[in-house]
Amino acid sequence: MAVRSPVINVMANAALKAARGLLRDFGEVEQLQVSIKGPGDFVSTADLRAERTLKGELLRARPGYSILLEEGGATAGSDPYHRWIVDPLDGTTNFLHGIPHFAISIALERDGEIIAGVVYEPTRNEMFWAEKGAGGYLNDRRLRVSARRQLGDAVIGTGIPFGERGDQPAYLATLARIMAATSGVRRLGAAALDLAYVAAGRYDGYWEFGLFPWDIAAGLLLVREAGGFVSDCTGGQTMMTSGAVLAANGHLHLPLAAAIREALRGTRPAS
Ligand code: IPD
Ligand code: CA
Ligand code: CA
Repeated sequence: MAVRSPVINVMANAALKAARGLLRDFGEVEQLQVSIKGPGDFVSTADLRAERTLKGELLRARPGYSILLEEGGATAGSDPYHRWIVDPLDGTTNFLHGIPHFAISIALERDGEIIAGVVYEPTRNEMFWAEKGAGGYLNDRRLRVSARRQLGDAVIGTGIPFGERGDQPAYLATLARIMAATSGVRRLGAAALDLAYVAAGRYDGYWEFGLFPWDIAAGLLLVREAGGFVSDCTGGQTMMTSGAVLAANGHLHLPLAAAIREALRGTRPAS
């Protein structure tokens, strides 16, 4: 039986509270798809409301901590060592389109190191959580990365840059390389869940460029605590600053890193 520490309880309870509002709003969004105005403004309000709930709950439990919120930015607390990192709604485009694949992501950093993480997917009631050194869990079940050894058998998640975002030719070079070498590539649209899926062994690996700390902080810990490897695309540990992430089980991390490096050679560096 998984025993949750007090800090994981704080994070999980905050996520559950914010999720109640998101689920209610998601029901509305499904109705709004057919309206002329569409659900855009409504979703922004839902996002902000969830963030307000999370901020309130987290700072009520740990008043001195600093906090980094996707929408509200950074607020310094009296405690210089601890910082919450929060994405109130990861998978906004899915939410906006009535696609039930989105999550709340909360991480806790101490002295620049991620020590606890929660990624909660409300529509399936899946609570992914991990504490440094204590393992990762999906609800009460231990998280383990997959055991697949062959790239040819692997299913790999990714995030595809859209609109004006990112270095699209560089990204397409990596996609071409990985789609040819594996059993298939998936783009489900929520980076925090992509990492949680690697931790749960659903994906064998995942890569994306141009992410932000709130997208990945909790998920990086989930993967590590599930026995997986995380790096940026050159094998370094700059994920939180560069926004580039490669996560995989221990057998596939190196081959995937080599494939991405190879694909990027000759293109401009990916952002
Ligand atoms: C986005 C999602 C998406 C990823 C984007 C993120 P948001 O976060 O995680 O999967 O590809 O780069 O910005 O905007 O839904 O919180
Ligand atoms: Ca996000
Ligand atoms: Ca978001």
